[in-house]
Amino acid sequence: MKKHFKIAVLPGDGIGPEIIDAALRVLDVVAKKYDIKFEFKHGLVGGAAIDERGDPLPEETLKICKESDAILFGAVGGDKWDNLPTDKRPEKGLLRIRKELELFANIRPAKAYTPLLSSSPLKEEIIKGVDLVVLRELTGDVYFGEPRGREVRNGERVGYNTMIYYEHEVRRIAKFAFEMARNRRRKVTSVDKANVLETSSLWREIVNEVHSDYLDVELEHMYVDNCAMQLIRRPKDFDVIVTGNIFGDIISDEAGALTGSLGMLPSASVGERYAFYEPIHGSAPDIAGKGIANPIATILSAAMMLEITCKLPQAARDIENAVEKVLEDGYRTADIWSPGTKKVGTVEMAEEIIKRL
Ligand code: IPM
Ligand code: MG
Repeated sequence: MKKHFKIAVLPGDGIGPEIIDAALRVLDVVAKKYDIKFEFKHGLVGGAAIDERGDPLPEETLKICKESDAILFGAVGGDKWDNLPTDKRPEKGLLRIRKELELFANIRPAKAYTPLLSSSPLKEEIIKGVDLVVLRELTGDVYFGEPRGREVRNGERVGYNTMIYYEHEVRRIAKFAFEMARNRRRKVTSVDKANVLETSSLWREIVNEVHSDYLDVELEHMYVDNCAMQLIRRPKDFDVIVTGNIFGDIISDEAGALTGSLGMLPSASVGERYAFYEPIHGSAPDIAGKGIANPIATILSAAMMLEITCKLPQAARDIENAVEKVLEDGYRTADIWSPGTKKVGTVEMAEEIIKRL
């Protein structure tokens, strides 16, 4: 079994460096416990890279990523770079990593933690027991489709993008969804807009074809607008939601908000060769540098890395259990704090998790 892992560490902007530091502390402890070795290599990305190198994804960073077994990513973006054109912005660094490393499958679990039920915007009885995954296709769709651009036509400004899916792109993400469902509750909801879009009618056709190899998994199709509604009405009914890039962007934020704590949600983006782990939340420039950011999403992303890249599911479960215990014991960062619980900072939260590993 592989015991030595090269990890590219890209903290990025805002709270990125603080939450990554917290996750690295946890990984150090796990490495000792499981007798594995991590070799961390840091790289610049996002606004930090724009400031130092004039490029949100410098060549050297991409090289570090390509030579790694996994990439641990913080967050990018901030007001400072908000007025740059789309192809020069910090976000472009993230989009290029996804494309260059062909990270086609984006896994975004959303789970209700019992001690945090009261922070959900939904009623407790609706949210209790929610355990779903949004599986978002990440390298196709209107995000990358050509042609795209802005120009002047007949004296008027226009902006345009192309929504496109190739058969092979739909096939591989659909397979991924069914495989994933087999390890869960065996239900896949495929989300599209097949009543309007050709891209979606192809999507639905291919998902049905792939399903014929997975008849032990229940498949339902749902229009994206209806899915947005059902996620609020009966989130418990979802297991694996598979969808394209743009719908997945929107639906995964919604799914994330259900549990009331964006600061808790991890994600993984994987392809044939590379794997990338990042919290769902952004760089939160307003609280950067204050030591109060919630590191749990990043720590749980590191847990996903232990499971998927390092093939140590038990180590992942250890971290998840430690996080649950910390919450049960009443420790909260500011974003999830409520009266009667103990408010802690980023480092303290990581230390409390480590104590329970
Ligand atoms: C996400 C983000 C990104 C996306 C942005 C930052 C480019 O919203 O990961 O969901 O749109 O994919
Ligand atoms: Mg998003």
